Amino acid sequence: MAAQLIDGKATALEIRAEIAQRVEELRGRGIVPGLAVILVGEDPASQIYVRNKGIACEKAGMRSLTLRLPAETTQAELEDRIRELNADSGIHGILVQLPLPGHLDERRALGVIDPKKDVDGFHPINAGRLLAGEKCAVPCTPRGVMELLRRTGLELQGKEAVVIGRSNIVGKPMALLLLQAGCTVTVCHSKTRDLAAHTRRADILVAAVGRAGFVTADMVKEGAAVIDVGINRVDGKVVGDVAFDEVWEKAGFITPVPGGVGPMTIAMLLKNTLEAAGE
Ligand code: GUN
Repeated sequence: MAAQLIDGKATALEIRAEIAQRVEELRGRGIVPGLAVILVGEDPASQIYVRNKGIACEKAGMRSLTLRLPAETTQAELEDRIRELNADSGIHGILVQLPLPGHLDERRALGVIDPKKDVDGFHPINAGRLLAGEKCAVPCTPRGVMELLRRTGLELQGKEAVVIGRSNIVGKPMALLLLQAGCTVTVCHSKTRDLAAHTRRADILVAAVGRAGFVTADMVKEGAAVIDVGINRVDGKVVGDVAFDEVWEKAGFITPVPGGVGPMTIAMLLKNTLEAAGE
């Protein structure tokens, strides 16, 4: 039987409409949630992501500020700009688009963001809070995945969840959120031996590898929920980490690319910004 498609695009639009309504209420009380995005350099993919974030922000009725800094920006200059935004009471959320050019220290820069304005949840304080199960800004992509899983109605408690990828942005926080939801979690990565032996046991399989079509049908358990976080460009087309055409006949639920997790990342960024503004 073919999988049920998880429509991230429609879900994200629903959530964005709810957020827009709450922004309107906040504006009625004199608060305009503001998000600042810093982009250093000219990475083409980052430019598209940053533009989309700004548009989404404005559509939700929020204030959007995009700082485009030259690729030669120094660490001190970048940190100064972040400190200025920390001190700006009209800005509730700050996001430094990653990756940064190679000469810049990503971890140091993220550590300068005021944890209260850290809408990506990448500051070590927020990462630590997530680890401890405390209230914090949750990284947008894993938060979006959890929202999609929740809306399938699947019981997560006691399920086998396998995450492929161990990045700070997706893999690690994803594993923590699934653990919090009561899943038995396995994190696989490039050094994992016999990857398919792990993935075949997964009731919930999250692919965050960055390689087009990496997850094939033989790696998937019949009826599994397959969540594809990958955004890969192949011959001008955007495709995920999952070989959708073959996996969708085997899975119980599956997210498409595009139109799955991607739109949810932006919706969760708006949600984190709204919450940082006092919701
Ligand atoms: N680059 C790719 N994904 C992300 C993200 O979620 N946040 C930031 N800041 N940069 C990214």
